[in-house]
Amino acid sequence: MILIIYDSVFGNTEKVATLLAAEIELLGKPSLARTVANVTDEEIKTAEVIVLGSPTRGFVPTDAMKLFLTEKALLLTNKKVSAFDTRLDPKAVQAKIMGWFVKKPSYANDYFEKEFEHAHAQLVVVPNAFYVRKGKGPLSKETPAQVTSFATNLVKIK
Ligand SMILES: Cc1cc2nc3c(=O)[nH]c(=O)nc-3n(C[C@H](O)[C@H](O)[C@H](O)COP(=O)(O)O)c2cc1C
Repeated sequence: MILIIYDSVFGNTEKVATLLAAEIELLGKPSLARTVANVTDEEIKTAEVIVLGSPTRGFVPTDAMKLFLTEKALLLTNKKVSAFDTRLDPKAVQAKIMGWFVKKPSYANDYFEKEFEHAHAQLVVVPNAFYVRKGKGPLSKETPAQVTSFATNLVKIK
């Protein structure tokens, strides 16, 4: 089972998580999408692959996702993992404004990669970034195609 654990404020990350689970199922693998608040330790322990998803807020994942990573790090040890974030499209005005303040912004995906390393989890698919046009969305038009390619890479994991 491929378990997607996500947090979402405005619903865009949730949309990606549920689309991804549906696409994985279509490709023939069982999948579950769970919020950080609802996922159980049992689900984490039995998952073959775990995918974490969060909006990038202030260059990092949400507080709930950061707390999850701290509290559940031991459950991620030796697990096959991947991640995705949602973030402002770099072409969008808001993202450009943010660029005036920081030369090299970081994203939730960078945080995920560091935490995976600390937890000795095994990164099996490169983290994906999904773009929103404004803070509250909508997601970019490329999202469905990108979800399909992400799901295809995830189901190949042995
Ligand atoms: C308080 C706040 C901080 C944000 N910080 C960033 C940021 O550092 N980098 C970025 O690309 N987008 C940033 N965004 C845009 C979010 O990534 C966007 O709202 C999110 O992807 C939407 O996902 P959600 O609908 O699942 O909450 C920020 C948005 C808010 C409201």
